[in-house]
Amino acid sequence: PAKVVFVGEAPGRKEEIQGKPFVGMTGQFLRGLCREVDLNFTEAALQNSALCRSEIDRENDEASVCCAPRLLRELAEFDPKIPIVTFGKSSTLSVLGVRSIMHSRGFVWTARELDPGPAWSKARKAKLRGAPKWKELWLKAQIVEGRSKLAGRTVLPTVHPAFVLRSDTWLPILKIDLDRISRWVRGALTKEVLLENGPYVVVSKRDEIRRELRKLSPVISVDVETGASTPGGKNGADPLRNRLL
Ligand code: URA
Repeated sequence: PAKVVFVGEAPGRKEEIQGKPFVGMTGQFLRGLCREVDLNFTEAALQNSALCRSEIDRENDEASVCCAPRLLRELAEFDPKIPIVTFGKSSTLSVLGVRSIMHSRGFVWTARELDPGPAWSKARKAKLRGAPKWKELWLKAQIVEGRSKLAGRTVLPTVHPAFVLRSDTWLPILKIDLDRISRWVRGALTKEVLLENGPYVVVSKRDEIRRELRKLSPVISVDVETGASTPGGKNGADPLRNRLL
């Protein structure tokens, strides 16, 4: 039986031909990394957020939204005790409803309790009215319902290995995350251990950050994320050039 579920993005060319996930270059790369951190790849059940391949990111995002109810249904069939690893943004969005992989990776998530009732009543009303967007609302309700069935599951998001193959800046991050996943799967890392090191706070305003930093010991280490998916990306922050105040 599987000890962990890996959720990728979509099949690549080779996966499409063979009809199996992670049999191409990305899969090979991931197998190698798993070996390095003592994570037994053969104990991982493999899933993809979309079942069809696309060359274009936007199409891929759309496919994974359409496919989300199917993915969530299949994930719900696994033993609730085994963790779900989401690779990259589309699988993390489908499973957790969180858009940013850079803000979600590195944390051990517990899937939230959700009530799909309100989403369903909105979708049903729109259908009765014949509103043009009723199908979109229907899909959304199916997704919320699918996520509600995963409440309480442990979810470990990380960057996608295919992304790391293109930009090895992220290789250390993927390795750190896989090592944490491996410890979780082996039972060497548990919620209790994490809580002993906590409690955690999430802050984003400068004053709040100052207040939290002041509570720490004189020597601290800070991991700075620039907030964009690539260094020097969208928000203009470049760790090689910007000064940290
Ligand atoms: N990348 C994925 O996300 N899934 C696969 O199955 C192969 C490559």
